[in-house]
Amino acid sequence: MVEELKITRERDLSAEQAEEIRQLQHEAFPNEPNFVHHRWYGTPLSDDDVWFGLYRDGKLVGSIRLVHRNILAGEKQFRIAGLANVCSSPLARGTGAGKRCMLAFQDYITKEEDFDFGMLFCGSHVHEFYKKLGWHDIDNEVLYETSDGNIAVSKDRTNNFIMIYPAKMSVEQFPSGQINLNGRTW
Ligand SMILES: CC(C)(COP(=O)(O)OP(=O)(O)OC[C@H]1O[C@@H](n2cnc3c(N)ncnc32)[C@H](O)[C@@H]1OP(=O)(O)O)[C@@H](O)C(=O)NCCC(=O)NCCS
Repeated sequence: MVEELKITRERDLSAEQAEEIRQLQHEAFPNEPNFVHHRWYGTPLSDDDVWFGLYRDGKLVGSIRLVHRNILAGEKQFRIAGLANVCSSPLARGTGAGKRCMLAFQDYITKEEDFDFGMLFCGSHVHEFYKKLGWHDIDNEVLYETSDGNIAVSKDRTNNFIMIYPAKMSVEQFPSGQINLNGRTW
């Protein structure tokens, strides 16, 4: 089997690559109506998004989207690599595809751009997956923009985890206090 990990900016994706990502997301998240028509959830696509794709024998089996965002936390500004749309093909689950994409994302955010932290939102079904890969829970209250342009607050972390990954800064340097995502979640 030939395995290849490709890292591609949104602006450089071919139409075929873009459609292959949408199809994989649709298969991996069968209950998510957004992926019937497009490749994003929460935050619309931007030219500077980065896609991590794992190909086995030429077929896409794992994918991650990186969203760039400047947030406020404890009244300071931080440069965030938002981890989004993490998925592997249902036929490839448990074979290391998700992990391989995650390791490529983590390597990229610590070496290739000027990020302070990685940040993700997840439910309990994948919480342990991210923990094993070195992500850490935070419990700050979060302000975010809803799809109709209002501002909402998220505080309850029961099945709604927020996790960070150290890039330029260490986990201990993430402040307490309210986070303003300066936009929608991803
Ligand atoms: C979550 C997901 C990406 C995992 O991908 P995968 O390709 O099956 O994972 P891997 O085979 O690379 O597993 C890597 C490690 O994580 C573990 N793992 C995989 N899924 C896990 C889960 N849901 N919970 C806890 N551990 C998990 C594996 O056992 C493996 O452990 P090891 O390194 O000790 O051997 C995949 O199940 C998926 O696409 N789910 C649907 C979409 C989704 O919910 N995405 C998350 C959005 S927040």
